[in-house]
Amino acid sequence: MSRRMVLSAAFVASVVASTVSPARAQGELTVYCTVQEEWCRPMMAAFERATGINVAMTRRSSGETLTQIRAERQNPRGDVWWGGTGDPHLQAGEEGLTEEYRSPNLALLHPWAVQQAEQSGFRTVGIYAGALGYSYNTRELERRRIEAPRCWADLLKPAFRGEVQVADPNTSGTSYTMLATLVQLMGEEPAFTFLKGLHANINQYTRSGAAPARAAATGESLVGITFLHDAVTQKVGGAPVTIVAPCEGTGYEIGSMSIIKGARNLENARRFFDWALTAEAQEIGAQARSYQLPSNREAKIPAEAPRFEDVKLIAYDFVKYGSAAERNRILQRWDREVRAAQR
Ligand code: F6P
Repeated sequence: MSRRMVLSAAFVASVVASTVSPARAQGELTVYCTVQEEWCRPMMAAFERATGINVAMTRRSSGETLTQIRAERQNPRGDVWWGGTGDPHLQAGEEGLTEEYRSPNLALLHPWAVQQAEQSGFRTVGIYAGALGYSYNTRELERRRIEAPRCWADLLKPAFRGEVQVADPNTSGTSYTMLATLVQLMGEEPAFTFLKGLHANINQYTRSGAAPARAAATGESLVGITFLHDAVTQKVGGAPVTIVAPCEGTGYEIGSMSIIKGARNLENARRFFDWALTAEAQEIGAQARSYQLPSNREAKIPAEAPRFEDVKLIAYDFVKYGSAAERNRILQRWDREVRAAQR
C-alpha cells in the first residue's frame, strides 16, 4: 500500500469514526429531573442508548427546579424539565420560562395529559398521574397501641404529636399538592386551621416530597404524607407500612414535562420530549419501582400502582392552583401562618 493510500485510509477511518461516534454525532442534552433518582438514571441511560445523545442530568424537587429555571432565565443551562408535579410546570409556562411544543406523540396520551398541554398553551404535558395520601409504620403504631388513622382529621390527634412528616411546599410539589388539596377540600380558612393544627404534630418539613415515605418505612417517623405511589415503593421494598387514601377525599398530581425556554439543545430536547411520551419510555418507571399511572394509553399500568377508582378524588383545579398568583399567594400564607408558628 502506498503512503498516500495509507494516509487517505486513515483519514477515511477518522471521518467514519467521528460520524458514527454517537456522542459527537448526536450532541448533548441537559435534563432537570424531578422524579426519584432511581428512575431518573435508567430513563436517561435508555434515552442515550436509543439516540446516542449524551445526557447530563441533575435531580431536584419541583419547587426548587422552578426557582432554578427562573434564576437561569437570562442564561438557560437546562434543556428539558422532566417530571415533578404539574402546578409549577404550569406556573413556569405562565412566566414564559418554557417553550411551546406540540409533540406528534400527544396523540398517544390519555385526555388528562393532553388537557394539561392545552391548558398551558402547549408549554407542558402530562407524563404520569398519582394521588396524594399518607402511610404509617404498622409495626410502630401497633407497638404504641395507637388507633389506625384513616382520614386527614386523624392526623391532628395528640397521639401523633411529633410523629408526622411532610415536605416543605416551597421546595416540594408533593407538599404544595397537599396545601392546594386541603384548600379545595375544606375551604381556605378551615384548611389553614387544619394546617396550623398539623404543624404541632410535624417532626420535620423535608425538602423532597417522597422523603417522608422513607421515614415512615424505617419508623423514623410514624406517619409520612406523600403521593400514594411513593409509599407503595417502600411497601414493595418490604417495609411494614399501611397506605391510606384519606376518607374525606384527596387531590392528585399530573406529573409533567416541559422544554426550557432558550434551550441550547432545542432539537435534542424535542427528541427527548417525543421519546418520553412513548409507551416504551414510560414503562421504565415501574422497572425502577415508581408506580405512577403512565400518560401513554398503551403503556402498561403497573399492577402495584394505586388506581384512581379506589380513591375518593377531588376535582383538582390545575388552572387555578397552577397559576403564579394563586401558587405564590398560598405559599406565602403558609410561610407566614404555618411555618412561622410556634410548636
Ligand atoms: O417521583 C416521585 C414523585 O412523588 C413524583 O410522582 C412527583 O412528581 C415528584 O416526586 C414530586 O417531588 P417533590 O415533591 O420533591 O417536588
